[in-house]
Amino acid sequence: MAEWWRDAVVYQVYPRSFADANGDGVGDLRGITNRLGYLGDLGVDALWLGPVFASPQVDHGYDVADYRAIDPLFGTLADMDELIVAAHARGIRVTLDFVPNHTSDQHPWFRSAVEAGRGSPERARYHFRDGRGPDGSRPPNNWRAVFGGSSWTRVNEPDGSPGQWYYHLFAAEQPDLNWLNPEVLAEFADVLRFWLDRGVDGFRVDVADALIKDPAFPDTPDGSPIIPKGADSPVHGVYRAFRRVLDAYPGDRIGVIETGAGDEVVALFLRPDEMQLAFGFRLVHAAPDAPSLREAIETSLAANGRVGATTTWVTDNHDTTRSVTRYGSRASFGGAYVPGELRAKDAGPVDVAAGTRRARAVALVLLALPGASYLYQGQELGLPNVDDLPEACLHDPIWERSGHTFRGRDGCRIPLPWAGDRPPFGFSTSPKTWLPMPDSWASLTVEAEIADPGSMLTLYRDALRLRHEQRALGRGEFRWVEGLADDILAFDLVLSGETVRVVANFGAAPVALPAGKVLLASSPLEEGLLASDAAAWVRRRI
Ligand code: NOJ
Repeated sequence: MAEWWRDAVVYQVYPRSFADANGDGVGDLRGITNRLGYLGDLGVDALWLGPVFASPQVDHGYDVADYRAIDPLFGTLADMDELIVAAHARGIRVTLDFVPNHTSDQHPWFRSAVEAGRGSPERARYHFRDGRGPDGSRPPNNWRAVFGGSSWTRVNEPDGSPGQWYYHLFAAEQPDLNWLNPEVLAEFADVLRFWLDRGVDGFRVDVADALIKDPAFPDTPDGSPIIPKGADSPVHGVYRAFRRVLDAYPGDRIGVIETGAGDEVVALFLRPDEMQLAFGFRLVHAAPDAPSLREAIETSLAANGRVGATTTWVTDNHDTTRSVTRYGSRASFGGAYVPGELRAKDAGPVDVAAGTRRARAVALVLLALPGASYLYQGQELGLPNVDDLPEACLHDPIWERSGHTFRGRDGCRIPLPWAGDRPPFGFSTSPKTWLPMPDSWASLTVEAEIADPGSMLTLYRDALRLRHEQRALGRGEFRWVEGLADDILAFDLVLSGETVRVVANFGAAPVALPAGKVLLASSPLEEGLLASDAAAWVRRRI
């Protein structure tokens, strides 16, 4: 289908934690292939696989040492080929992670850059600079890394003397590439072709908006980096080039930029000759209340609409506290985005039952909105974040690099519970999974939830089935329903003489629903009324 991505539901697989076929306690490609039936039954249109390329795994695969090889932890290239073929046979498309901002420090390019020394063409692929001070022992500027500490690390020159510094936006093991160097674009365009030739349907581009840094690397008042993204930034030339690569292939292959930028900036990357979708964080930042959701929806639809682009809706991913937990603690909203620590430290106690109710309501908002939606594995099971992992189990580099002040993102990356009543819940044959699984998840397994008509999984399965049946959902013309109380969010989706009205009640009291057929409700109706923290889809004829 042309432009299949405009209303696709994409399921994010976090490969380490989806399903482990070889019994080493870490998920792998064959585990995913074995479970494609589950994803087919769920009703998703496409997968996004987190990075599975050869990597020292310092940042769980976001530190790539070979972009054309599968890390043995996850399997082989043949396993990937098999996964692509098997997914396509079920009508599920496959998109991969693409990590162009930085390589691993073990990538051959970086190793040769260190060896080749000052002023070499090898160093020109990265950002090497002399340090400050008489002996160059101070970093070239004051920019801070996202994971904590300075953004600069010093190397030893080939003769063993302390030498230049290189720039890294994230961990020291993730040196940033110099995207003003044409050699970098040529290499990465070729990496795209390598995977497109193998049949992948597209890419989610990691930290896509951050590829270009101010080459003067000036100090900034608060140490934040200067990353030009405006209409005249050379970064847009990179995406135009990527788009030409994608368009040279049949089958409508896509690029999805991952970006934390504001709506107007995001839209620049979605101009007709750049990428098709943007994986943004507007709904991740929104509280589960009518004004916050309305503001997020309105501004992203308006900005993307101006360039004719589709909006992509996301509440959860592998970098954010799971929504069931976020929504269970109203204190957790309003802070600035700090990757890995979206929930403020003083968020207070979490009411998981309330969080689950609100997550169910938001699910019906998310899956009705016009555009593409992403689901992060486990979201469909209503998994909460696991915030009490013992410190000794923490893997995320944020924990070390923040000097043990931020625990990082492990709590949203726990392996999926499939079946049974105790860990590892069918995820692996090994009792020792790479992150421990809570004993309390017996009621949250796929097996338990499939059998439960009131489970989160049943809600998602019903919602996705209806989304395929009722063409207005995810596709109709969007219109706000005005004149309702402040804590009600309501909109219509109109298509070919049919309207689906979405009503979400975030107030304390139940509210009446409009006339029509209730297709689905996130909580049982209370004497015909929509309960507090609940949403419903109502079909109306016009
Ligand atoms: C965003 C990814 O989603 C995150 O997991 C990773 O740590 C950073 N980019 C760096 O690649």
